[in-house]
Amino acid sequence: MSSILEKDKKYVWHPFTQHFNSEELLEIVKAEGVFLYDSSGKKYIDANSSWWVNIHGHGNKYIGEAIVEQFNKIDHIVFAGLTHLKAVELAKRITKILPTEMEKVFFSDNGSTSVEIGLKMIIQYWHNKGIKKNRFLAMRGSYHGDTFGAMSIGQRGYFNVPFEPFFFDVDYIDFPNKFNEDSILSHSKSLFETGDFAGMILEPLVQGASGMRMYSPLFLDRLATLAKDNDVLIIYDEVMTGFGRTGKMFATDYCQVKPDIITLSKGLTAGVMPLGLTVTSNRIYNAFLGEETTKALLHGHSFTANPIACAVACANLDLFEQPITIQCIQNLELWNQEFKLELEKIECVNNIRQQGTIIAFDVLSEEGNTYFSDIKTKAYKYFLSQGVLLRPLGNVIFINPPLIISKEEYNKITKAILRFLKDRN
Ligand SMILES: Cc1ncc(COP(=O)(O)O)c(C=O)c1O
Repeated sequence: MSSILEKDKKYVWHPFTQHFNSEELLEIVKAEGVFLYDSSGKKYIDANSSWWVNIHGHGNKYIGEAIVEQFNKIDHIVFAGLTHLKAVELAKRITKILPTEMEKVFFSDNGSTSVEIGLKMIIQYWHNKGIKKNRFLAMRGSYHGDTFGAMSIGQRGYFNVPFEPFFFDVDYIDFPNKFNEDSILSHSKSLFETGDFAGMILEPLVQGASGMRMYSPLFLDRLATLAKDNDVLIIYDEVMTGFGRTGKMFATDYCQVKPDIITLSKGLTAGVMPLGLTVTSNRIYNAFLGEETTKALLHGHSFTANPIACAVACANLDLFEQPITIQCIQNLELWNQEFKLELEKIECVNNIRQQGTIIAFDVLSEEGNTYFSDIKTKAYKYFLSQGVLLRPLGNVIFINPPLIISKEEYNKITKAILRFLKDRN
């Protein structure tokens, strides 16, 4: 065991890890382009973009320069009472590329917190208006993060059992499919008509952590229309779907009905710096204005609007303005469509789905077809042996690589997947 691994064991507590029986870690010593290199010199394609965050590959020079340039100007400052160029530039540019209703940007530093702030905005909006609305609507299978508000409106059970007594009440709708959409909508309508609902939160078009489950923009529009008709505020959590993942810049771009709040993180900084944004309308913002300080959103973080993170997010937006990035998204979409045809021929593959740069499918197995399926561990190890870092979600295998991946590297991933599936048949 290398001394780094020994020291890691001694001093570090990892996320989502049962350290009692966890597998040995990989020590990564270098990240470049779509590759990660371990301490033995072996390289791996980063097929899930390092927890779905990396957009332009690792070590992008343009982003690196933005970091150094910003560090030499301002590294970090308190964001209450002060402001700086890159925060303002980012806020302006983000509001210009989001729907027109998105006019004000609140900064934080991760996806969970961007959601937490969205929930607090809704709760306080109604409070400031003196209207009693206490309930939220969410979708079964959703994941919005690991802070208390985000856990409350996410899927209950297993991951969060010890904390459940501390969650607030939420009503859940089923995940839509072609058979249940109408009944979900009539159920939602009757809930909204009670007048008790402050807000609704959804991962638009793709539920990430529950297994890259996909549904149509048409359904989302119908549900959002019901919410709007009943003055229920809407959050679209685009922490995972934002920045080209779904084929367009944002999943919201597929929808006619626009939300009141959009949360962003992950791809916002191309996966290089921690940053979260909660973007909302002047309608919501204005409800926090008044003589009394207590009417304001009294929320903030030490690293709110960190200038280096903001500079990186601006550099990321510059890269999205390059035609090559759009070309990369289109290439990935096309390769995914071709891979889908290959997968359709395989017996143990079920429910193949694709949205833009994400492709996912279920592996049918006698060992069980759930999140806790053993396939996850087997597949993970197999892919590592093939030089691919790919973390399945239970029995769901999915690819969402950095957009800059070449066809050759993409093929290496798909070949490894096909070999794994062939061995199972
Ligand atoms: C849709 C969605 N919302 C929120 C989060 C939480 O983001 P973070 O891990 O940065 O707290 C995630 C993380 O996977 C996510 O997929």
